[in-house]
Amino acid sequence: MSTILQASDISKVYPSGEDTVTALNHLSLEFDAGRITAIVGPSGSGKSTLLNLLAGFDVPSSGNVTHNGNSITAMPETTLASYRLAHFGFIFQNYNLVSILNAQENVELPLSLASVPRLERTKRAKELLARVGLGKRITHRPNQLSGGEQQRVAIARALATNPSVIFADEPTGNLDSATGSGILELLTGRSEGSEARTLILITHDMEVAARADKIVKIRDGRLDSGA
Ligand SMILES: Nc1ncnc2c1ncn2[C@@H]1O[C@H](COP(=O)(O)OP(=O)(O)OP(=O)(O)O)[C@@H](O)[C@H]1O
Ligand SMILES: [Mg+2]
Repeated sequence: MSTILQASDISKVYPSGEDTVTALNHLSLEFDAGRITAIVGPSGSGKSTLLNLLAGFDVPSSGNVTHNGNSITAMPETTLASYRLAHFGFIFQNYNLVSILNAQENVELPLSLASVPRLERTKRAKELLARVGLGKRITHRPNQLSGGEQQRVAIARALATNPSVIFADEPTGNLDSATGSGILELLTGRSEGSEARTLILITHDMEVAARADKIVKIRDGRLDSGA
């Protein structure tokens, strides 16, 4: 099994008024290619911070993150932006959909950035929205969609470029368990018989965590090795 992503001794300290908050405290972790890892832990334990650092949306205060041996941490922002686009898909805890774009346009966005021709990206966006059960909602803007529907648009968007790694912050949080289970299949790519995708997800849902190959527990910004 090969390591696709590696965090080495990463810490994240946020300024907080006069004080600081240590969200991650010297954490080291490896992720195997093609596997599902579930990150679990109490609210405020540092899960979203960890995911943001792994995906290169934020830089650690110290330590290093590498993807296939390439240091994400050392990359200049411009290089990193195209690197993320080529390799990573991200589903944010608050979805981060673009409010003035409709569902289809939101899903097409990463494809436009990757210079995929219009016809192809429209086809791909429609296909993905149908796969997440939103075939009849493609012209709805985020404020015209329910929370679970917005979540599914965010999932379709993350899948659009067919990334080798998907990071997902509570991807099934607003979905019922049957929908959530279908979404999980879609995220892993295992249902398509395509090459296995690496999936790193944060979840409070023990049913979802149980389907992961590995569970990582975080507490107070550290790995929780206890029960
Ligand atoms: N931008 C920021 N500035 C200051 N403090 C922050 C910032 N982002 C997060 N924190 C703090 O860092 C800690 C970890 O936050 P994080 O969002 O990673 O937690 P989490 O495990 O994802 O929680 P939840 O399950 O509620 O989403 C918290 O104490 C939080 O208040
Ligand atoms: Mg969080």
